[in-house]
Amino acid sequence: MQQEKDVVVGLGEIGKPIYKLLSKSLLTVGYDLNPKLIDGKKFTKYKNVNTRFIHICIPFSDKFIAQVKIICENFSPKGVVIHSTIKPYTTRTLQSTLQIPVIYSATRGVHRRMNTDLKKYTKFFSIEKTAPNQKWASNTYSKILKKVQIHSKKISSPLTLELAKIVVDTSYYGWLINYAQLSNMIAQEHGVDYDEMWSFADDIHKFLGNRPKMFPGFIGGHCVIPNLDLIHNHTLNLIKEINDTYLKKVPKAKSINKKYDKSKKQSYDVTK
Ligand SMILES: NC(=O)c1ccc[n+]([C@@H]2O[C@H](COP(=O)([O-])OP(=O)(O)OC[C@H]3O[C@@H](n4cnc5c(N)ncnc54)[C@H](O)[C@@H]3O)[C@@H](O)[C@H]2O)c1
Repeated sequence: MQQEKDVVVGLGEIGKPIYKLLSKSLLTVGYDLNPKLIDGKKFTKYKNVNTRFIHICIPFSDKFIAQVKIICENFSPKGVVIHSTIKPYTTRTLQSTLQIPVIYSATRGVHRRMNTDLKKYTKFFSIEKTAPNQKWASNTYSKILKKVQIHSKKISSPLTLELAKIVVDTSYYGWLINYAQLSNMIAQEHGVDYDEMWSFADDIHKFLGNRPKMFPGFIGGHCVIPNLDLIHNHTLNLIKEINDTYLKKVPKAKSINKKYDKSKKQSYDVTK
């Protein structure tokens, strides 16, 4: 059988670990606009080997579809897998302009432990019902993930997964942190201790699992807040508003993260 390669495009926080993982078991090369990130020797060595999948790991922008089309023209792959977080309906739009199958496979995890997170979480994926060669694409992608020891799960539509990544992952996390921020502002206003107040919820959370106490930090980083711009939901935009208000009311909000982590040994993660 003719040798084929996979190409990971965008060697940043998710692309690099995905590239490393795939490279262990499959012929994979990496490509980035920044030439310093590319293994030039390997890239040149396998330049003439046909491309099976292009793995898209570049940030979403208004130019995303045009960028992916150019990447496809340059590498002539048999299929595309999008690992980036994207605006809902992007997979559908992209599929309607390409003659090859497009898989959406959202990425979960936190950049600083992405190598382990990639293996920890089931990698969901989905493909449009109108996609050409979809059986080949789904089966081959599942096999690739199995080979690199990642569990996979195929769901019914890319749109469900595009929404899931934003609505039940990052925005939900932001929404929970907002509640911690609100409750901390109330605690401060009345001069009571945040942790002591929240200890009242511990038992309930233990028995029912529905009163999680979050860490009242400022939501910084580059996931929760930027992902809100992918969905433009009026109510979800409150996450950003409450976060901004919190910084005005609790000026030290950005620096309390570490203090709390150290002294109270809490593991709440607000770096997203
Ligand atoms: N960082 C995370 O923890 C994380 C987690 C889940 C999902 N995501 C999503 O993954 C995507 C990528 O995020 P990231 O944090 O890895 O970004 P990043 O900024 O760390 O890396 C992106 C890389 O892509 C390259 N790039 C940009 N456009 C390109 C193009 N047209 N061709 C080739 N290379 C190009 C850049 O030079 C850069 O090296 C985003 O959609 C993000 O929301 C990130």
